[in-house]
Amino acid sequence: MASSSQVLATFFLLSIFSLFSPSKSATCTSQAFANNRLYNFCNDLPALNSYLHWSYDPAQSTLNIAFIAPPARPGGWVSWAINPTSTGMVGSQALIAFRDARGEMTVKTYNVSSYGPLTESRVWYDVRDSSAEFSDGVIRLFATLVLPEKGITTVNHVWQVGPSVTGGVPGKHDFQPGNLNSKGSLDLLRGQSINGGTGDNIRTKMRNIHGILNVISWGILFPIGIIIARYLRTFPSADPAWFYLHASCQVSAYAIGVAGWGTGLKLGSESKGVTYSYHRNIGISLFTLATVQISALLLRPRKGHKYRFYWNIYHHGAGYAILILAIINVFKGFDILKPEPKWRDAYFVVIAVLGGIAALLEAITWMVTIRRNKSRTSTKPYDGLTTD
Ligand SMILES: *[C@@H]1O[C@H](CO)[C@@H](O)[C@H](O)[C@H]1NC(C)=O
Repeated sequence: MASSSQVLATFFLLSIFSLFSPSKSATCTSQAFANNRLYNFCNDLPALNSYLHWSYDPAQSTLNIAFIAPPARPGGWVSWAINPTSTGMVGSQALIAFRDARGEMTVKTYNVSSYGPLTESRVWYDVRDSSAEFSDGVIRLFATLVLPEKGITTVNHVWQVGPSVTGGVPGKHDFQPGNLNSKGSLDLLRGQSINGGTGDNIRTKMRNIHGILNVISWGILFPIGIIIARYLRTFPSADPAWFYLHASCQVSAYAIGVAGWGTGLKLGSESKGVTYSYHRNIGISLFTLATVQISALLLRPRKGHKYRFYWNIYHHGAGYAILILAIINVFKGFDILKPEPKWRDAYFVVIAVLGGIAALLEAITWMVTIRRNKSRTSTKPYDGLTTD
């Protein structure tokens, strides 16, 4: 077991890391603007297909920006903001571009103090000049800002896109990973977006670790341990080896799974404004069931004891519940973290292969049991409960 789980672990670590390795060269350097607008720096922002161009004069605290992003729907909005007090959306001082009631593109400012509806307001910086245009599916937001303090060289920035504007009020944006990761720290004089800042890098790492640990433990090791228990013990020669294999597989799955579960709780507690309640509740049920299963090992009545039959029913029932919930929750997790589709497909293939192996072993087990019963005529048919 150890070697195959190591192979799997290596496979998943390599695959997940390859998802996040830097690759393409900047697109923004080839973007040009009408009216001879020129900027000293530009960045391909790491989320929402957005680009930022800017020039900064620290002596005057003047920041000239062009922000380019596709709104979530054609009638939607795009926003770029500085957060002077924190990272993320709450506290951000936002510029939002959209088409106003008269059908003209406009830029308004918002002091975003909560997750509630937005109202236009004064912001932390002065806006000397702003405008927006919509073409080729993207909104270009231009603004000249005067920052209220001298000597600022790094700002936390946040950007966002939304699907709709109702009565002049920009509507709620989605809470997909792109919408939640669209923030970072911007070095105004060095022309690089420190992707997400330290806090977010840790968060991205934690998401990856959460995914890897849980896919390996709940999604792969637990099912393998169940297959071992169900099919190996049909063969008298595999007794008691199957039991130790089963127990060590499930205990390691549990150890890895608890670590993965812990990262999930931490991620959940840090994710403000969005809760994945199904994924969370299934995760908590899985942890509870698995903890009961591991403790049940210690309470197992000895062979032949009158309660052993009931213990078996309960242990197998909980085991199959874990199997089903675990697979559902791994797929829910894929939906939330949205890695490239190939990783979801790869897991699907792993589960399909395990399912195929189980079906084959099921057939063999029945054949073996029927043959054995014919030759002995006395034993009960294999029912999954009495053969240990
Ligand atoms: C923005 O709103 C917060 C909370 O209501 C307030 O404390 C802050 O002074 C406001 N900022 C500006 C620039 O008005």
